[in-house]
Amino acid sequence: MKKYFTTPIYYINDKPHIGHAYCTLATDTLARYWRKKLGEENVFFLTGTDENSQKTVDAARAMGKAIPEYLDEMAGVWRTTWEEIGIEFDDFVRTTEDRHIKKVHEIFQKVHDKGDIYKGKYIGLYCTGCEAFLKKSDLDKEGNCPHHKSPPKQIEEENYFFRLSNYQKPLLDLYEKNPNFLQPESRRNEIVSFIKSGLEDISVSRETSEFGISLPIDEKHKVYVWFDALINYISGLPEGEKNEFWPEAVHIIGKDITRFHCVIWPAMLLSAGIPLYKEVFAHGFFTIDGQKMSKSLGNVVSPLELAEKYGNDALRIGLLSSFEFGHDGDFSLENFENFYHAKLAGGVGNLFNRVITLTHKLFEGKKMLEKTGGFDTQIQTQRNNELIKTEIYSDEDITIDKFEMALKNNKIQKAVQILFAQVDKANHILSTHRPWELIKTDKVGTGGVMLELIRRLEIIADMAEVLLPETAPRMKKMLGDGQNIGQPEILFAQKK
Ligand code: MSP
Repeated sequence: MKKYFTTPIYYINDKPHIGHAYCTLATDTLARYWRKKLGEENVFFLTGTDENSQKTVDAARAMGKAIPEYLDEMAGVWRTTWEEIGIEFDDFVRTTEDRHIKKVHEIFQKVHDKGDIYKGKYIGLYCTGCEAFLKKSDLDKEGNCPHHKSPPKQIEEENYFFRLSNYQKPLLDLYEKNPNFLQPESRRNEIVSFIKSGLEDISVSRETSEFGISLPIDEKHKVYVWFDALINYISGLPEGEKNEFWPEAVHIIGKDITRFHCVIWPAMLLSAGIPLYKEVFAHGFFTIDGQKMSKSLGNVVSPLELAEKYGNDALRIGLLSSFEFGHDGDFSLENFENFYHAKLAGGVGNLFNRVITLTHKLFEGKKMLEKTGGFDTQIQTQRNNELIKTEIYSDEDITIDKFEMALKNNKIQKAVQILFAQVDKANHILSTHRPWELIKTDKVGTGGVMLELIRRLEIIADMAEVLLPETAPRMKKMLGDGQNIGQPEILFAQKK
């Protein structure tokens, strides 16, 4: 079995913010789960940059830079940001690379040869922010683009059109036959009703673009940036669509770009006679303290700044735990800081530290290797004539199964909750059985409690390989080898 994960390729007219980081971290987390499950060689993870956009040209000009110099610099910024926050991508594709341009020419030519390209005149609206042709009905009450809150340009130019209208029926059949082709279901319903409402042909070239990939059939025109960008998912794979990873592709995207991915992209592939990707998962958008993240509001949060203060794993799990993957949500610095202190420093970090320190204190750092007598299914602690019982081992397999099931179904927030529930259970065992007191009257019983705790920590460390990848090796080191426990460490330091 193979798995191929992609993120959207990002526009590089600005630096990455935590919205972009959310999407990339979620994809990285799924890729890590599947690598652990299937082996490194069976998973491919692609990300990259969308460079042939008017926005790039405008940004380069505003900074007084030559375009190639600006592109290299900004593509470098995106790439190193992902590396710095611990994203393990297999390749990074740039749409100005030769391998990409060649593939765009090839696919455009195939679509043309199929008879799906014709020349026409486009008179209408265009939003450079979205890089999209808009209809009057797409605008808000003020006549602005609803995403960018600015008026679209009125354009009139010769364009080449793609016969998207030919694909209404094949697309509906596709959605009918593949229930998972687009997730979650709410997005799927939206797209299906959009297709049912009738598809119009779309313009796929720009006569007036200053920058971009020339059409193989007409040098004077540039390929429409979305037609070009979507092809990255194929051009970024060695051997392109012939690569065995291709039909396994899972595109993780934000809900803002579902129409491009779930209507235009499959229609382009059908037209070019290329097998389709496997599925798209569209996640939600989050606001910052209830407001849209935007430069003009000054509330843009940098993933690098958060990671620098709290660490990469805190950034990752803090974002992924904030709201359900696939839904909209909110992010606030205050909640993030509370989460860090309660769940990481005071939760999982403190638990590891206490259990390891206690094992040193009570059993000279020796692990309890076997279930001690009388503790097969329960740990029992006699205190003040009261018998305290905790079922043991009973939920080990169930926990792992639930965790795996969550990740297999792209329920990332759920997986995070399972990890923290495990931490809570271990803390509960610790505070109810009090091994530091129990040792005075019942050494065997204390051994049983500590064995149970260490087993739970081992499960947490396994889950952490996916959700807290930089902390997991430190946890494993603390848990030691077969016989001896390691040295206690502070996994998540308290921050001021
Ligand atoms: N270049 C296109 C994608 C081409 S893919 C063939 C593009 N780029 S983008 O940089 O503007 O946005 C990429 C993605 O960033 C969005 O789809 C979304 O996944 C993510 N997000 C941007 N802001 C976000 C939030 N505030 N919240 C969550 N995700 C956000 O569109």
